[in-house]
Amino acid sequence: MWKALHAIIWLAAIAGPLAEVEARVSRRQVRHRSPPHLGLDKYMSYEDIMQYLEQLSRVYSDRLELHDVGRTFEKRELRIAKISNGIEPSRKKVIFMDAALHAREWTTPITALYVIHQLVVESRENAYLLANTDWIILPLANPDGYEYSRNTNYWWRNTRTPNTNNCYGTNLNRNFGLGWGEGLPIFRDPCNENYAGTGPFSEVEARVVRDIMHKLVDEKVGFMYLSLHTANRSIFYPWVNEPSPIHNNHEHEEIAQYAAQKILWSTGTIIKPSQGYKYGGRIGGTSVDYAFYMGFPLSFVFEMSGMGKNGVEYRFYPPEQYIRPLVQESWIGIEAMVKKAIEKYPSSRPLHIPVNHKDAVNAAPSNRGFFGNIYEKFTSIFD
Ligand SMILES: *[C@@H]1O[C@H](CO)[C@@H](O)[C@H](O)[C@H]1NC(C)=O
Repeated sequence: MWKALHAIIWLAAIAGPLAEVEARVSRRQVRHRSPPHLGLDKYMSYEDIMQYLEQLSRVYSDRLELHDVGRTFEKRELRIAKISNGIEPSRKKVIFMDAALHAREWTTPITALYVIHQLVVESRENAYLLANTDWIILPLANPDGYEYSRNTNYWWRNTRTPNTNNCYGTNLNRNFGLGWGEGLPIFRDPCNENYAGTGPFSEVEARVVRDIMHKLVDEKVGFMYLSLHTANRSIFYPWVNEPSPIHNNHEHEEIAQYAAQKILWSTGTIIKPSQGYKYGGRIGGTSVDYAFYMGFPLSFVFEMSGMGKNGVEYRFYPPEQYIRPLVQESWIGIEAMVKKAIEKYPSSRPLHIPVNHKDAVNAAPSNRGFFGNIYEKFTSIFD
């Protein structure tokens, strides 16, 4: 009896302080690598996003490099994050992701930051995503439009460059140089939110994305392009501007199906995979077609869900309490797509590079479909 009591007192005396020491040690380890807080509970401004990236890169300078690769019409930075596992500097294939080409799709930049967080901070858990791949992420591809959408007109979708007729802005996902201007007459209307610009790559934001694509393809490391949009709940792949399927359509389909399954199992959200063209007909000048044409063997648009946990469709602006679940759901899809893509492209498999990939660089606008091919359908399928 006394012995047992003694033992208990002894245990309490020793175990208490020991546990405290352990807690202190692990707190110190955390403090050693204390990342900035990514709340996922509010929409972030351009400034918030830039600041978050800077703080994160200071803490994880061995894994995360920032580069300012262009300046917008209103002089905001176009900032990319280059992420590696910080171990081998060897030439790895590269995943290129962008977000918010369309200004009003507010959950996409914060999702891109969450992907960066997963790769950089949760790097142990996600080591396999960086073992043979590096990532380049442009989390805010249209900062001028994004700020205008936040502060002035939440419905805003385009850049903020002035057009004729006192109208503003170009739709970046019509501004790429493959099939530029093809599809619908409104793509030539400078006052329409589908305006494709004065010419292919008239916008610095599109040129920056193009130049990253070219560089990666030229270095033969361009592996997968992924553009984040909302809120169609689908995964699109090329062609958007042609009815014919691409040569590895089945591969795209399989990857998209796999991600859709994962999301369905974890949240119940239905994501539909499809060739882009099948949804709404011909749309020229998209980034997803351009990336594939230039030589990325895999190219996707992920149209994330804009539906709240309460089942209400909020499209572009879910109330802030729904940001976190939507971002986390999207991460499940992105991780699944990349996991499957990596499986399909082991290091031994060469990345297919078309021979004439430079043909489209400054592809002249063609008029095919401009007058003859008028769709009666709702036209903003490519949110
Ligand atoms: C996605 O786009 C297609 C084609 O325009 C449309 O039929 C469908 O309703 C859209 N889905 C959502 C969730 O917006």
